[in-house]
Amino acid sequence: MSAQAALATLQGKHIVLGVSGGIAAYKSALLARLLKKAGADIKVVMTQGAHAFITPLTFQALTGNTVHDTLLDADAEAGMGHIELARWADLILIAPATANVIARLAHGHADDLLTTICLASPAPKRLAPAMNQQMWANPIVSANIERLTTFGWELLGPDDGEQACGDIGSGRMLEPEAIVARLLDDTSPSRQISHHNHSGTKVVITAGPTREALDPVRYISNYSSGKMGYALAAAAHAAGAHVTLVSGPVQLMPPAGVKVINVTSAEQMLSAARSESRNADIFISSAAVADFRPQHVAEHKIKKGSDNTTILELIKNPDIVATIAGEYSSLFCVGFAAETQSLLENAGSKLVRKKLDMIVANQVGEGLAFDQDSNAVTLIWHDAQQKLQQRAFPMQPKPQLAHQLIDAIFAHYQAHQDTPSVSVN
Ligand code: C5P
Repeated sequence: MSAQAALATLQGKHIVLGVSGGIAAYKSALLARLLKKAGADIKVVMTQGAHAFITPLTFQALTGNTVHDTLLDADAEAGMGHIELARWADLILIAPATANVIARLAHGHADDLLTTICLASPAPKRLAPAMNQQMWANPIVSANIERLTTFGWELLGPDDGEQACGDIGSGRMLEPEAIVARLLDDTSPSRQISHHNHSGTKVVITAGPTREALDPVRYISNYSSGKMGYALAAAAHAAGAHVTLVSGPVQLMPPAGVKVINVTSAEQMLSAARSESRNADIFISSAAVADFRPQHVAEHKIKKGSDNTTILELIKNPDIVATIAGEYSSLFCVGFAAETQSLLENAGSKLVRKKLDMIVANQVGEGLAFDQDSNAVTLIWHDAQQKLQQRAFPMQPKPQLAHQLIDAIFAHYQAHQDTPSVSVN
């Protein structure tokens, strides 16, 4: 897309630009100018802290609109009150987003105009964090960011490099030009496909490990935490789909708005996935299903005995995703391939063998992916000419990755529905 054509995509968009109190607030003036140049209508909402770094007059001059900063203002409430602004917005962009505003948003505070608008608005929300690198690395901040991404917020940045405080590291606000480029990318035609209305789409997702009982107190399992599957469920729900999560035993909060069916073994997971998939549109198999289960489950706790060795007889578990893909030919099936070697080759052959529409290839082992908060994957599928295509998603927090994967999966599903021979990159 040419720069000119790209700029047209923000034309007429109503953007609430939230500015919070960080030194990067001076860059928001340029950001407002660039967004306006791209054709967007900008209403700036400043937090109290932002006033220490930049004046409302600057934004008013650049955007041609009144700047808003007070929640309980009788004049404002009569005109552009928080509900009006929340309704007006096509997009809410907070740049810079300080650790403080991130924390307040993550916990649903409504103690100033900006946070209240965010709660009251269904518009897509983007966040450009800006803070000292130690603060950005603080696990409390990471947890708040993770929480926000679970609720559909998308992160823009931060950047690495030299900081105003003299530190070097991650936490700099993304440059205004880069923020605008990211927003333009959001409004590009390929992303537009993914912003179809998914309100009628039914998605079934399996997540977590399975446990295969040996006796009443022991089982065979694996290190899967379920984080990726839960993040996918939250992202699919945020995209408007009806989501059922068939979950193995994990230590995670059920995502809001998602129907969760808890199972323990692979056989139970198959049975739940099978009945839930009957009238589903998309099946995503992110569970780490145990390949084998003990042939016999002892009725009582197995005794040690005097032998130094013992033999466990195992029997193969059903392949859930392959079974479902075989039984429901119109279901759009997406598998995961956790590999320790020859990632793309092994994932590609699983795509064919299990008759899947797409597969998410995941390098595991050596501390990667399993039980981690971040992940990097490659999405693989066949194009209309049956040529293998792939798209890499860099290392990032699982909730953020989940939104990107859901966008890509839904776009391919949509293309598949519209014209079975069309492929989307
Ligand atoms: O063959 P492999 O276990 O590597 O395949 C991984 C994919 O197959 C994942 O999507 C996983 O959820 C699914 N799978 C399954 N049932 C099994 C084994 C794997 O659904 N028994």
